[in-house]
Amino acid sequence: MGTHAVNVNNFNFWYGDFQALKNLSFMIPALKITSLIGPSGCGKSTFLKCLNRINERSGKTSMSGSVSIFGHDIYHPINALPEIRKDIGMVFQKPNPLPLSVYENIVFGAKTHLKKSELKKDLLDKMVEESLTKVGMWNELKDRLDSAAISLSLEKQQKLCIARLLPLKPKILLLDEPCSALDPKGTLAVEELIKDLKKQYTIIIVTHSMAQAKRVSDETMFMYMGQLVEHGSTEQVFGAAKNPMTLQYIEGKFG
Ligand SMILES: Nc1ncnc2c1ncn2[C@@H]1O[C@H](COP(=O)(O)OP(=O)(O)O)[C@@H](O)[C@H]1O
Ligand SMILES: [Mg+2]
Repeated sequence: MGTHAVNVNNFNFWYGDFQALKNLSFMIPALKITSLIGPSGCGKSTFLKCLNRINERSGKTSMSGSVSIFGHDIYHPINALPEIRKDIGMVFQKPNPLPLSVYENIVFGAKTHLKKSELKKDLLDKMVEESLTKVGMWNELKDRLDSAAISLSLEKQQKLCIARLLPLKPKILLLDEPCSALDPKGTLAVEELIKDLKKQYTIIIVTHSMAQAKRVSDETMFMYMGQLVEHGSTEQVFGAAKNPMTLQYIEGKFG
Protein backbone atom coordinates (compact mmCIF):
# COMPACT_ATOMS: atom_id res chain seq x y z
CA MET A 1 0.00 0.00 0.00
CA GLY A 2 2.85 2.34 0.88
CA THR A 3 1.83 5.86 0.10
CA HIS A 4 -1.87 5.17 -0.33
CA ALA A 5 -4.27 5.79 2.51
CA VAL A 6 -7.43 4.64 0.78
CA ASN A 7 -7.85 2.02 -1.90
CA VAL A 8 -11.31 1.66 -3.41
CA ASN A 9 -12.09 -1.19 -5.74
CA ASN A 10 -15.25 -1.64 -7.80
CA PHE A 11 -17.23 -0.10 -5.01
CA ASN A 12 -21.02 0.26 -5.28
CA PHE A 13 -23.41 1.53 -2.64
CA TRP A 14 -27.23 1.50 -2.45
CA TYR A 15 -29.82 3.18 -0.22
CA GLY A 16 -32.60 0.61 -0.63
CA ASP A 17 -33.02 0.30 -4.42
CA PHE A 18 -31.29 3.56 -5.19
CA GLN A 19 -27.68 3.23 -6.27
CA ALA A 20 -25.85 6.25 -4.89
CA LEU A 21 -22.26 5.20 -5.74
CA LYS A 22 -21.36 3.46 -8.97
CA ASN A 23 -18.34 1.35 -9.62
CA LEU A 24 -15.77 3.50 -7.89
CA SER A 25 -12.12 2.46 -8.21
CA PHE A 26 -9.35 4.78 -7.14
CA MET A 27 -6.61 5.40 -4.60
CA ILE A 28 -6.14 8.36 -2.29
CA PRO A 29 -2.59 9.30 -1.30
CA ALA A 30 -1.48 9.44 2.33
CA LEU A 31 -0.50 12.72 3.96
CA LYS A 32 -2.07 14.79 1.20
CA ILE A 33 -5.28 16.74 0.92
CA THR A 34 -7.77 15.37 -1.59
CA SER A 35 -10.83 17.41 -2.43
CA LEU A 36 -14.08 15.94 -3.60
CA ILE A 37 -16.17 18.21 -5.81
CA GLY A 38 -19.38 17.81 -7.79
CA PRO A 39 -22.97 19.05 -7.86
CA SER A 40 -25.37 18.47 -4.99
CA GLY A 41 -26.61 14.91 -4.75
CA CYS A 42 -23.71 13.33 -6.68
CA GLY A 43 -22.68 11.17 -3.73
CA LYS A 44 -19.86 13.09 -2.04
CA SER A 45 -21.21 12.82 1.50
CA THR A 46 -22.28 9.23 0.87
CA PHE A 47 -18.75 8.35 -0.12
CA LEU A 48 -17.24 9.98 2.98
CA LYS A 49 -19.73 8.13 5.13
CA CYS A 50 -18.79 4.84 3.48
CA LEU A 51 -15.22 5.41 4.65
CA ASN A 52 -16.15 5.11 8.31
CA ARG A 53 -19.25 3.04 7.79
CA ILE A 54 -21.64 5.47 9.44
CA ASN A 55 -23.87 5.04 6.40
CA GLU A 56 -25.02 1.79 7.89
CA ARG A 57 -27.19 3.87 10.22
CA SER A 58 -29.22 5.17 7.25
CA GLY A 59 -31.79 2.38 7.12
CA LYS A 60 -31.54 -0.33 4.48
CA THR A 61 -28.23 -0.02 2.71
CA SER A 62 -26.02 -2.41 0.76
CA MET A 63 -22.65 -2.36 -0.91
CA SER A 64 -20.35 -4.38 -3.10
CA GLY A 65 -16.67 -4.15 -3.85
CA SER A 66 -14.03 -3.13 -1.35
CA VAL A 67 -12.61 -0.19 0.53
CA SER A 68 -9.23 -0.54 2.20
CA ILE A 69 -7.76 1.94 4.61
CA PHE A 70 -4.00 1.54 4.96
CA GLY A 71 -4.34 -2.01 3.73
CA HIS A 72 -7.28 -3.02 5.96
CA ASP A 73 -10.50 -3.95 4.20
CA ILE A 74 -12.96 -2.00 6.35
CA TYR A 75 -15.97 -4.05 5.21
CA HIS A 76 -14.30 -7.35 6.09
CA PRO A 77 -16.01 -8.80 9.17
CA ILE A 78 -12.66 -9.42 10.83
CA ASN A 79 -12.12 -5.69 11.29
CA ALA A 80 -13.98 -4.31 14.31
CA LEU A 81 -16.14 -1.26 13.70
CA PRO A 82 -14.98 0.76 16.75
CA GLU A 83 -11.37 0.42 15.56
CA ILE A 84 -12.30 1.58 12.07
CA ARG A 85 -14.14 4.58 13.46
CA LYS A 86 -11.21 5.46 15.71
CA ASP A 87 -8.88 5.61 12.72
CA ILE A 88 -11.14 7.91 10.77
CA GLY A 89 -12.40 11.17 12.18
CA MET A 90 -15.20 13.12 10.57
CA VAL A 91 -16.19 16.77 10.69
CA PHE A 92 -19.51 18.04 9.36
CA GLN A 93 -20.84 21.09 7.60
CA LYS A 94 -22.22 22.74 10.73
CA PRO A 95 -19.92 22.71 13.74
CA ASN A 96 -21.48 20.25 16.16
CA PRO A 97 -19.64 20.45 19.48
CA LEU A 98 -21.30 18.62 22.35
CA PRO A 99 -23.23 20.78 24.82
CA LEU A 100 -20.29 20.50 27.21
CA SER A 101 -17.18 22.49 28.10
CA VAL A 102 -14.23 22.90 25.76
CA TYR A 103 -12.29 20.46 27.95
CA GLU A 104 -15.01 17.81 27.99
CA ASN A 105 -15.47 18.02 24.24
CA ILE A 106 -11.84 17.11 23.70
CA VAL A 107 -11.69 14.22 26.15
CA PHE A 108 -15.11 12.81 25.21
CA GLY A 109 -13.93 10.51 22.42
CA ALA A 110 -11.04 9.28 24.52
CA LYS A 111 -13.40 8.51 27.40
CA THR A 112 -15.57 6.32 25.19
CA HIS A 113 -12.72 4.56 23.36
CA LEU A 114 -9.81 4.22 25.78
CA LYS A 115 -9.29 1.98 28.81
CA LYS A 116 -9.89 3.37 32.31
CA SER A 117 -6.17 3.13 33.08
CA GLU A 118 -5.44 5.48 30.20
CA LEU A 119 -7.82 8.11 31.52
CA LYS A 120 -5.87 9.62 34.43
CA LYS A 121 -6.41 13.35 34.93
CA ASP A 122 -2.87 14.38 34.01
CA LEU A 123 -3.12 12.36 30.79
CA LEU A 124 -6.44 13.96 29.93
CA ASP A 125 -5.01 17.42 30.68
CA LYS A 126 -2.11 16.68 28.38
CA MET A 127 -4.50 15.46 25.69
CA VAL A 128 -6.43 18.72 25.87
CA GLU A 129 -3.28 20.84 25.71
CA GLU A 130 -1.86 18.89 22.76
CA SER A 131 -5.09 18.89 20.77
CA LEU A 132 -5.72 22.60 21.27
CA THR A 133 -2.10 23.37 20.46
CA LYS A 134 -2.40 21.46 17.18
CA VAL A 135 -5.38 23.53 16.12
CA GLY A 136 -3.69 26.75 17.29
CA MET A 137 -6.13 27.55 20.09
CA TRP A 138 -4.29 26.54 23.29
CA ASN A 139 -3.07 30.01 24.24
CA GLU A 140 -6.43 31.66 23.85
CA LEU A 141 -8.43 28.88 25.49
CA LYS A 142 -6.14 27.55 28.22
CA ASP A 143 -7.78 29.78 30.86
CA ARG A 144 -11.31 29.11 29.58
CA LEU A 145 -11.36 25.34 29.31
CA ASP A 146 -14.53 25.25 31.40
CA SER A 147 -16.51 27.54 29.13
CA ALA A 148 -19.24 26.06 27.01
CA ALA A 149 -18.01 24.97 23.58
CA ILE A 150 -21.07 26.47 21.95
CA SER A 151 -20.15 29.93 23.31
CA LEU A 152 -17.17 30.01 20.91
CA SER A 153 -17.35 31.62 17.47
CA LEU A 154 -18.33 29.25 14.64
CA GLU A 155 -14.76 29.17 13.36
CA LYS A 156 -13.47 28.18 16.78
CA GLN A 157 -16.25 25.62 17.19
CA GLN A 158 -15.21 24.03 13.91
CA LYS A 159 -11.56 24.00 14.97
CA LEU A 160 -12.65 22.43 18.25
CA CYS A 161 -14.55 19.75 16.31
CA ILE A 162 -11.26 18.95 14.55
CA ALA A 163 -9.30 19.13 17.82
CA ARG A 164 -11.57 16.64 19.55
CA LEU A 165 -10.78 13.99 16.92
CA LEU A 166 -7.03 14.14 17.55
CA PRO A 167 -6.74 12.34 20.94
CA LEU A 168 -7.83 9.11 19.22
CA LYS A 169 -4.90 9.44 16.83
CA PRO A 170 -6.93 9.09 13.66
CA LYS A 171 -5.15 8.34 10.40
CA ILE A 172 -7.63 10.05 8.15
CA LEU A 173 -9.71 13.18 8.62
CA LEU A 174 -12.92 13.46 6.61
CA LEU A 175 -14.25 16.98 6.30
CA ASP A 176 -17.69 17.42 4.76
CA GLU A 177 -17.97 21.05 3.61
CA PRO A 178 -16.31 22.17 6.85
CA CYS A 179 -16.32 25.86 5.98
CA SER A 180 -19.80 26.31 4.60
CA ALA A 181 -21.08 27.87 7.83
CA LEU A 182 -18.05 30.17 8.19
CA ASP A 183 -17.29 33.69 6.99
CA PRO A 184 -14.30 34.27 4.68
CA LYS A 185 -11.93 34.97 7.57
CA GLY A 186 -13.03 31.82 9.43
CA THR A 187 -12.77 29.86 6.19
CA LEU A 188 -9.17 30.93 5.64
CA ALA A 189 -8.31 30.14 9.25
CA VAL A 190 -9.71 26.61 8.94
CA GLU A 191 -7.95 26.15 5.57
CA GLU A 192 -4.62 27.15 7.14
CA LEU A 193 -5.25 24.62 9.89
CA ILE A 194 -6.06 21.87 7.40
CA LYS A 195 -2.88 22.55 5.42
CA ASP A 196 -0.90 22.34 8.62
CA LEU A 197 -2.56 19.06 9.68
CA LYS A 198 -1.63 17.26 6.49
CA LYS A 199 1.89 16.84 7.84
CA GLN A 200 0.37 14.21 10.11
CA TYR A 201 -2.99 13.22 8.68
CA THR A 202 -4.49 12.22 5.36
CA ILE A 203 -7.31 14.63 4.65
CA ILE A 204 -10.33 14.26 2.39
CA ILE A 205 -12.44 17.38 2.05
CA VAL A 206 -15.78 17.81 0.33
CA THR A 207 -16.22 21.34 -0.91
CA HIS A 208 -18.70 23.36 -2.93
CA SER A 209 -16.05 25.95 -3.58
CA MET A 210 -13.74 25.48 -6.55
CA ALA A 211 -11.56 28.24 -5.14
CA GLN A 212 -11.20 26.31 -1.90
CA ALA A 213 -10.33 23.08 -3.70
CA LYS A 214 -7.65 24.98 -5.63
CA ARG A 215 -6.28 26.65 -2.50
CA VAL A 216 -6.01 23.63 -0.26
CA SER A 217 -5.87 20.36 -2.14
CA ASP A 218 -3.12 18.32 -3.73
CA GLU A 219 -5.54 16.10 -5.64
CA THR A 220 -9.08 16.69 -6.81
CA MET A 221 -11.83 14.22 -7.61
CA PHE A 222 -14.88 15.27 -9.60
CA MET A 223 -18.01 13.17 -9.10
CA TYR A 224 -21.25 13.21 -11.04
CA MET A 225 -24.34 11.09 -10.38
CA GLY A 226 -22.54 8.60 -8.20
CA GLN A 227 -19.62 8.14 -10.57
CA LEU A 228 -16.06 9.35 -10.47
CA VAL A 229 -15.60 11.40 -13.63
CA GLU A 230 -12.11 12.71 -13.12
CA HIS A 231 -9.30 12.36 -10.60
CA GLY A 232 -5.88 13.94 -10.81
CA SER A 233 -3.59 16.52 -9.32
CA THR A 234 -5.51 19.68 -8.49
CA GLU A 235 -3.33 21.51 -10.99
CA GLN A 236 -4.26 19.07 -13.76
CA VAL A 237 -7.98 18.93 -12.98
CA PHE A 238 -8.36 22.71 -12.86
CA GLY A 239 -5.76 23.52 -15.50
CA ALA A 240 -6.28 20.79 -18.07
CA ALA A 241 -9.37 18.71 -17.32
CA LYS A 242 -9.53 15.59 -19.43
CA ASN A 243 -13.28 15.10 -19.30
CA PRO A 244 -15.49 17.77 -20.91
CA MET A 245 -17.98 17.42 -18.06
CA THR A 246 -15.30 18.33 -15.52
CA LEU A 247 -14.48 21.41 -17.53
CA GLN A 248 -18.13 22.43 -17.71
CA TYR A 249 -18.51 21.99 -13.97
CA ILE A 250 -15.43 23.95 -12.98
CA GLU A 251 -16.41 26.70 -15.39
CA GLY A 252 -19.75 26.95 -13.60
CA LYS A 253 -21.88 25.76 -16.52
CA PHE A 254 -23.95 23.52 -14.22
CA GLY A 255 -24.33 22.53 -10.55
N1 LIG B 1 -30.13 8.32 3.91
C1 LIG B 1 -30.44 8.32 2.60
N2 LIG B 1 -31.43 7.55 2.11
C2 LIG B 1 -31.75 7.55 0.79
N3 LIG B 1 -31.11 8.28 -0.14
C3 LIG B 1 -30.10 9.07 0.28
C4 LIG B 1 -29.72 9.14 1.67
N4 LIG B 1 -28.69 10.02 1.77
C5 LIG B 1 -28.46 10.48 0.52
N5 LIG B 1 -29.29 9.91 -0.37
C6 LIG B 1 -29.32 10.13 -1.83
O1 LIG B 1 -28.06 9.76 -2.36
C7 LIG B 1 -27.61 10.68 -3.35
C8 LIG B 1 -26.28 11.25 -2.93
O2 LIG B 1 -26.46 12.06 -1.79
P1 LIG B 1 -25.23 12.74 -1.04
O3 LIG B 1 -24.18 11.74 -0.82
O4 LIG B 1 -25.77 13.44 0.14
O5 LIG B 1 -24.75 13.80 -2.14
P2 LIG B 1 -23.81 15.07 -2.01
O6 LIG B 1 -23.11 15.03 -0.69
O7 LIG B 1 -22.89 14.99 -3.18
O8 LIG B 1 -24.70 16.27 -2.13
C9 LIG B 1 -28.72 11.73 -3.47
O9 LIG B 1 -29.54 11.35 -4.56
C10 LIG B 1 -29.46 11.62 -2.17
O10 LIG B 1 -30.81 11.99 -2.31
MG1 LIG C 1 -23.14 16.42 0.92
